[in-house]
Amino acid sequence: MIDINKAKLNLLSSGFLNIHIDSNLDLFKEINILKEKKNAVILAHYYQDSDIQDIADFIGDSLALAQKAEQTNADIIVFAGVHFMAETAKILNPSKKVLLPDLNAGCSLSDSAPPALFKLFKDKYPNHIVITYINCSAGIKALSDIICTSSNAEVIINSLPKDQKIIFAPDKNLGSYLNKKTGRSMVLWNGACMVHEIFSLEKIVKLKIRHPKAKVISHPECEENILSISDFIGSTSELLKFTKLNESKEFIVVTEPGILHQMQINKPNKVFIPAPPNNSCACNNCPHMKLNTLEKLYLCMEYELPELILDEALRTASKKPIERMLQISKDHGL
Ligand code: 13P
Ligand code: SF4
Repeated sequence: MIDINKAKLNLLSSGFLNIHIDSNLDLFKEINILKEKKNAVILAHYYQDSDIQDIADFIGDSLALAQKAEQTNADIIVFAGVHFMAETAKILNPSKKVLLPDLNAGCSLSDSAPPALFKLFKDKYPNHIVITYINCSAGIKALSDIICTSSNAEVIINSLPKDQKIIFAPDKNLGSYLNKKTGRSMVLWNGACMVHEIFSLEKIVKLKIRHPKAKVISHPECEENILSISDFIGSTSELLKFTKLNESKEFIVVTEPGILHQMQINKPNKVFIPAPPNNSCACNNCPHMKLNTLEKLYLCMEYELPELILDEALRTASKKPIERMLQISKDHGL
């Protein structure tokens, strides 16, 4: 039995406390008991550790997770992902308790767009509609007209008249990829994801020489030079689907390597090679996503902390552009 109080758990989630969990405890069993007892649902992103994916009720990309969060009947949503994802779940579910195993699980892309600076930027472009990638704070969402994810961005942009002026934020790589795909010239905010901007083109090309039959598949948050040599570009769920349906037996996967777990489960006989970054590390884990662990998941369900709390005025203002995204997605069968 763990002897801690709520204050200690808050310290734990801030990384100040190291709680010892009885090593005899079967965390999978305990988490399942808590899930049942508390009518909780565990939603996990594909970039989470394999054991978290294995115990989750639902695993998905940012769009599917937002849709699931909107539909759930659970009393507690445990979000195994990063802060903006849990925040989106809370925006859609004010009466539910939303828990995040580690409240420090942020996102470099979200951090690259502080709301006060973004407001000044937006004011320079009157008559522009603001489309923002879901990887942003509630403050940015509240300044936006429509939210999008990498699964529905093209559909959302194309739903607007061709001559509609658009600001796209915060990811400049995704934004310029979408400008090419849709033939628009959206004004881009200069943000990027720390994981997707450090893939090494040189190392990927070398891998391709060693594995000539492998398909290079990349997330659109990657830089242009990586996207230009890719055989397929898509969101995490689209990459996963591609590896299921494409006849190739080998894939060089240029996104956070957590996605490889589901690829391998779906196609155990195929080979998935995680693309390396341009530093001395062999893999390119997202340090934010990987802050969540099975132990923290257990503790947060046991103590119902840390809880995501959101100012009500901010919640209402940030809800509208998310609802617009969900409606357009629904209208297009996404
Ligand atoms: P998707 O899973 O929606 O493609 O998003 C990727 C990502 O970077 C999430 O942080
Ligand atoms: Fe943010 Fe990039 Fe990590 Fe996704 S992978 S949570 S965009 S830092």
